[in-house]
Amino acid sequence: MQDQPKFIPQRGTDFYTDGRSARPQVENTVARGQLHQDPYFYTGLGADGKEGSAMPFPVTMEVLERGQERFNIYCAPCHSRVGNGAGMIVQRGYRPAGNFHTPRLMAMPLGHFFNVMTNGYGAMPDYKAQVSPADRWAIVAYIKALQLSQNAKPADEAPGVQVESLSNIARQEGFDDPNFGNEWALPKTAVYGTPNEQDNGIPPALPPSANGKYPPAQPLPGAATAPAPTNK
Ligand code: HEC
Repeated sequence: MQDQPKFIPQRGTDFYTDGRSARPQVENTVARGQLHQDPYFYTGLGADGKEGSAMPFPVTMEVLERGQERFNIYCAPCHSRVGNGAGMIVQRGYRPAGNFHTPRLMAMPLGHFFNVMTNGYGAMPDYKAQVSPADRWAIVAYIKALQLSQNAKPADEAPGVQVESLSNIARQEGFDDPNFGNEWALPKTAVYGTPNEQDNGIPPALPPSANGKYPPAQPLPGAATAPAPTNK
C-alpha cells in the first residue's frame, strides 16, 4: 500500500505530457447545480445588459420576511434598519452608505439593487459570497417595501386599517421620551454633505487618513437625541 502508483498532491508526474498530476477542468464543464440557466436571476441584468425592473419570482409575505431578516443582518449595519444610510457603522465613521429614499434611488429598477449586492458599488463591498441569489432578490423586494413605508401617506392605508403613530406605540411600550417617534434627523454635514450630494447618493469623501487610518468618529449633530430606528 505504501508503494503503489498514485498521484501525490502538489507533486508532478511523467504520465501526462505537461508533467502535472492535477488535471485542468475539461473545457465547458459545469459543476452540479451551477448551470445558471436563467441569467437574469443571477445578474439582475436583461438581455440588453441593462438593469431589469422585474422580480424573477413572485413576492409573497414569506419572501418579504426573509428579505427583512437578511437585510437586517447584512445591510442594516451600514444602511440602518430604515435604509436611510445612517447605520451604526456609518455613525462610527465608515464611509456614508446610500440612502434608499432619495429620488434617484426611489426610481432605480429592481435589478440595480441586485447588481449592487452582487458586484459592490464604490466603497461598498459585494455580498455575493454571503447572500445567495434568491436571498438577494428577497432583499430587493424588502427594500421596495422600505421605500414605500418610509414615504407612505395616509391615503396609502388599506381601508379599515388603523395605523398607530410611532410615538403612541412607544408610549404604550413604556418609553417615556416625548421625542421618540419624531422624524429621525439625519446627521447632515458629517454624513451627507450638501443636499445635492444626498440626491446623487454620492457621499463626500472622508477627510484624508493619517497612517492609513480614518480619523475617529466625531459626535454627530443630533446623535444624542436621535431615537433608535425600528423596523416594526
Ligand atoms: C460595510 C457597509 C455596507 C454594508 C454592510 C452594505 N452597504 Fe450598501 N453601501 C455602502 C456604502 C459606503 C455605499 C455608498 C458607496 C459609495 O458611494 O462609494 C453603499 C451604497 C449602496 C447602494 C446605492 C447604490 C447607488 O446607486 O447609489 C445600494 C442600493 C446599496 N448600498 C445596497 C446595499 C444592500 C442591499 C446591502 C445588504 C446586502 C448593503 N448595501 C450593505 C456600505 C454598505
